[in-house]
Amino acid sequence: MDGLAMKILITGNLGYVGPVVTEHLRCRFPDAELIGYDTGYFSAGLTGVDHLPEVALDAQIFGDVRDFDPRHLHGVDAVVQLAAISNDPISNLYEEVTADINARAVIDIADHARRAGVKDLIFASSCSMYGLADSGPRTEDAALNPLTPYARSKVAAEAALAHLAQRGFRVTALRFSTACGMSPRLRLDLVLNDFVACAVSGQPITVLSDGTPWRPLIHVRDMARAIEWALLRASNGVTQAHLPINVGCDEWNYQVRDLAERVAASVDGGTMSINPDAQPDRRSYRVDFARYRELAPDHQPQIDLSAAIAELDAGLRAMGFADEDFRHSTLMRIHHLGRLRESGRLDDQLRWTPQESSA
Ligand SMILES: NC(=O)c1ccc[n+]([C@@H]2O[C@H](COP(=O)([O-])OP(=O)(O)OC[C@H]3O[C@@H](n4cnc5c(N)ncnc54)[C@H](O)[C@@H]3O)[C@@H](O)[C@H]2O)c1
Repeated sequence: MDGLAMKILITGNLGYVGPVVTEHLRCRFPDAELIGYDTGYFSAGLTGVDHLPEVALDAQIFGDVRDFDPRHLHGVDAVVQLAAISNDPISNLYEEVTADINARAVIDIADHARRAGVKDLIFASSCSMYGLADSGPRTEDAALNPLTPYARSKVAAEAALAHLAQRGFRVTALRFSTACGMSPRLRLDLVLNDFVACAVSGQPITVLSDGTPWRPLIHVRDMARAIEWALLRASNGVTQAHLPINVGCDEWNYQVRDLAERVAASVDGGTMSINPDAQPDRRSYRVDFARYRELAPDHQPQIDLSAAIAELDAGLRAMGFADEDFRHSTLMRIHHLGRLRESGRLDDQLRWTPQESSA
């Protein structure tokens, strides 16, 4: 598959990563048919843009991955699975829902995809499955140590996907580092985005741990380039049926306090405070990216920390961002879902409820 005329279904396309992936794939594959599939939890949360990123799609389907109709796979060459409950705190509140969305639904869709003749399934996995792993960088073969329902859901999905992969149905599990950077649907519950938002809103960068945890980072546009690589890997000779791969680069294994220092030094007026008495964060992992370096030499991350900080700084200022209380705002995924629950728009399974329009 040369990628030019592929039909690609992207689940979870209306979140933080999805719009960046959509726009990247549209640029790289102008003739591809791109279909989005999302339930739309955050679809109204546009940030800093003057148009819907989804104009780059050929079609948008609104649906829950738990109710996926296999007919949507007709003629599809590749599925990119981004749809997920996407962080640890939400997964702690909604453990069973997280397992349903992040693992069971992923596996069901993959099973349907295999039967439908889809050739590539690209799964957005996470390096957080290494859990506490700060004694040395972890390769893909290292023992997994998931510490949260979110990380456990990614482990469960990957394990089942490994069984489904076969000749003619390739599975690429992209174990992403923690994302950062601007997006048309920005979220601020990611470590670098949070630190820059603190500095731009004129408050000290408060590190919520003792600052020692290791966290590999990747810019969201470099995630999109990794997805492009995965879509093309077989035509470039990387033909394994099942390929788990850490996505990031060795230089971007940072300790949280170093990130805070870099942001404080880079953003006008930036200051920081670390609580030396805070409980160390149990989630601390260093990751080895040799496999990605070897197999994807032309898709290595390009955006470095200074550029990512400068872009976030400029992007937040362009939005007029000044909310000192943003950690309680809807730019945090957990609070946005909380508001939808409080208003009754989502039920306790995070399914939409029918509502009369209040407009
Ligand atoms: N952001 C990161 O740092 C990061 C790091 C590693 C892996 N990932 C993975 O990348 C993917 C995208 O992350 P993101 O930051 O864009 O998350 P996000 O929360 O911004 O977006 C997730 C999207 O999935 C959709 N979704 C959730 N449940 C759904 C359901 N039941 N049916 C249909 N759609 C549903 C949401 O509406 C949302 O648009 C996720 O799988 C996440 O686990 C993200």
